[in-house]
Amino acid sequence: MPQCSQPRRDILDNMVCLKPGSSTHSSSEWCGDLEQWLDQLPIISEKFLAENRRPLVTVAYAQSVDGSIATRNREQLRLSGPQSMIVTHRIRAACDAIVIGINTLLIDNPLLTVRLAEGQSPQPIVLDSKLRIPLQVRLLDRTDQRCWVACTHKSDPGRINAVEGRGAEIIRCRHNGQGWVDLPHLLQQLGERGIRSIMVEGGGQVITSFIEARLVDQMIITIAPRLVGGLAVLDRPAVCKGSLLHLHPVSYQPCGPDLILWAQPQWQDT
Ligand SMILES: NC(=O)c1ccc[n+]([C@@H]2O[C@H](COP(=O)([O-])OP(=O)(O)OC[C@H]3O[C@@H](n4cnc5c(N)ncnc54)[C@H](OP(=O)(O)O)[C@@H]3O)[C@@H](O)[C@H]2O)c1
Repeated sequence: MPQCSQPRRDILDNMVCLKPGSSTHSSSEWCGDLEQWLDQLPIISEKFLAENRRPLVTVAYAQSVDGSIATRNREQLRLSGPQSMIVTHRIRAACDAIVIGINTLLIDNPLLTVRLAEGQSPQPIVLDSKLRIPLQVRLLDRTDQRCWVACTHKSDPGRINAVEGRGAEIIRCRHNGQGWVDLPHLLQQLGERGIRSIMVEGGGQVITSFIEARLVDQMIITIAPRLVGGLAVLDRPAVCKGSLLHLHPVSYQPCGPDLILWAQPQWQDT
């Protein structure tokens, strides 16, 4: 059973300078309040880390109007328009680290760098319990940042050597009931490494696990005007011990053809 830890509300309340329902900018303007929050994130997350001993977690992804993040066969879909892509890179630049699941790595083969905004690329982290990471992926070719690969204590030592031999750093974590990387243990270790904030970019199983563990402090969802009938963002119900996830307070912002929604998750009894 995943651990259900509750984020500290006092810190979250202080950190929120987003004004619910205040989004009146035209689609050609930048996301004003969101931009302000991203500017403040290093300071906010410093305090958050000191008080919670884990990084502040922002889940950010793009979906179609019907909630698909990819095709049903898990083929990658380019959902975000050019303006929203800039926002995505701005979020990457504001966070110390970026987390993806191994399926996303296998399918998308992303670099996870910041290219469309100013700022440093975040530390890339892949959740990969069984070390399925192919040694030829682009992330392992990066010379600016060593990829961190989070696996479990059960991982094969020979495989660990091979992945380390390609320049990656291995983070050994406890495993949860599904045999996956235990997220509280991972976040504790990231905090010890001085990581103040992480962006969880996907895919669906990883996002669901963070929600299930109640380890999400902010959500930023790009909604593209498409209907796909594809892979749902949540691969299991977002109900934990009878509590349903609500997004509140919530703000919306047009961004080119897309809509950006950002909010804090709150768990309320069903
Ligand atoms: N639209 C978007 O914004 C967006 C963003 C990213 C990805 N995507 C899409 O998402 C799809 C992939 O998503 P997905 O749901 O199949 O996989 P995923 O979330 O990328 O990866 C899931 C895998 O990560 C490993 N893992 C390790 N620890 C975990 C934990 N605590 N919780 C969850 N997973 C953990 C597991 O594999 P092991 O058992 O081998 O460890 C698990 O099967 C692709 O089609 C990609 O294009 C879309």
